[in-house]
Amino acid sequence: MILLADDEPAFQRLTAGWLRAQGHEVTTVGDGDAARAAFARHRPDVVLLDLAMPPHHDPQAGIALISAFAPAPVVVMTGHADQALAMQAIEAGAWDFLAKPVDPDLLKVVVARAVERARLAQELAALRARDETSEDMGLIGQSPPMVALRALIRRVAPTNMPVMVLGPSGTGKELVARAIHAASTRAKGPLVPVHCGAVPADLLESELFGHLKGSFTGAHADRAGLVEVAHGGTLFLDEIGEMPPAMQVKLLRFLADGTYQPVGAREMRQADVRIIAATHRDLTAAVADGSFREDLYYRLKGLVLSTPRLDERGADKALLAQIFLRRAAPAARFAPEALEWIAQRAWPGNVRELRAAVECAAALAQGAAISVEDLVFATGETAPVTLTPANLTLEDEVVALERRRIVEALERTGHNHTHTARDLGLSRVGLLKKMDRMGLR
Ligand SMILES: Nc1ncnc2c1ncn2[C@@H]1O[C@H](COP(=O)(O)OP(=O)(O)OP(=O)(O)O)[C@@H](O)[C@H]1O
Ligand SMILES: [Mg+2]
Repeated sequence: MILLADDEPAFQRLTAGWLRAQGHEVTTVGDGDAARAAFARHRPDVVLLDLAMPPHHDPQAGIALISAFAPAPVVVMTGHADQALAMQAIEAGAWDFLAKPVDPDLLKVVVARAVERARLAQELAALRARDETSEDMGLIGQSPPMVALRALIRRVAPTNMPVMVLGPSGTGKELVARAIHAASTRAKGPLVPVHCGAVPADLLESELFGHLKGSFTGAHADRAGLVEVAHGGTLFLDEIGEMPPAMQVKLLRFLADGTYQPVGAREMRQADVRIIAATHRDLTAAVADGSFREDLYYRLKGLVLSTPRLDERGADKALLAQIFLRRAAPAARFAPEALEWIAQRAWPGNVRELRAAVECAAALAQGAAISVEDLVFATGETAPVTLTPANLTLEDEVVALERRRIVEALERTGHNHTHTARDLGLSRVGLLKKMDRMGLR
């Protein structure tokens, strides 16, 4: 809903009519006190505020009123194009301004932006409130796939079954493994991660299962393997797709009965370890080309959890960004356009990329708020070619709008100037002048 505060009845009626025609609900009031009261009662999303209203018709009183409407965006209207007053209003927290007489097209654009901004702010506040009250298991996100993922984690955690976590790089597979461990009966035991791709193939066996002194060159003493270290807890086999085939057989055996043989030992040993494996690779392809054992694949395939791409998580992008920013720089905040930009970007590097970009932008940001430019720089992207509210001045935006409407009307009428002018409510000469200015002739 929009609260329109203006003391001129004719202006009030006209403007309210335009806004209602755009599908907005509108409440009108004629002075500052009534505006406060209406705001408290209706909690409008956006406030359109005339700065000079009764009893004193003093714009400074109007400016003092702006902060009373927080957090709703306030669009101030000034009786004459008073640039200094408008800037003062913006400094006092106004979201935007309109000069009277108000152009209906401009009103439409400015109000639409303000409404969008209010919607985004409300959505974030709701998400943040939910995030802080819900058991998020260290996995931030309220989008349906993340809610479903947490529900699955809760279900698989108490079983002692091996779990496979699949998903693209940077989507939180390691966090999922940690969440499973933390929600399991083994939570008090250790969680031991092994990066199968980072350990040289010939050392992986001794790393996992340990070795006896003298079992190979360089084995100067007995050494416990990571399965022993993980006894009573969880072993996280990250990038299991990189595990060499010879090791896969031994792992399969360990999965079957919990027994293993340290390198150089004769007897088998036992360890009570739960296995969680992860990979960003397509294991079915690895099975098909023979680099991953089919039997091990089926043993692990029992419980598969998939982490979704960040681009599938809707409003989680903005939520994650807010939380990463709060952790990195508690006093910093995003410009509203920056949050919109984050929400619209695809983030091929997923959560890891988003986190790095937010942390980098927080370190680089010059102003009070992190801007789109800061983020563009932090992601190493070239500047966006499309014009966004952030890099458009109000005047640019009006010109762009005018130009678009004229081009559309010209196309519709087959470039008939008379019809175009009529459709746009302009005189023919007025249209031609505008077209000249825009280089459309
Ligand atoms: N839902 C989430 N909430 C909070 N932080 C997250 C979330 N998902 C991922 N992260 C963060 O993103 C980064 C990458 O996560 P993680 O290392 O778990 O990804 P991964 O899927 O294991 O990636 P890779 O395949 O490259 O190893 C980490 O800094 C992690 O803390
Ligand atoms: Mg990982």
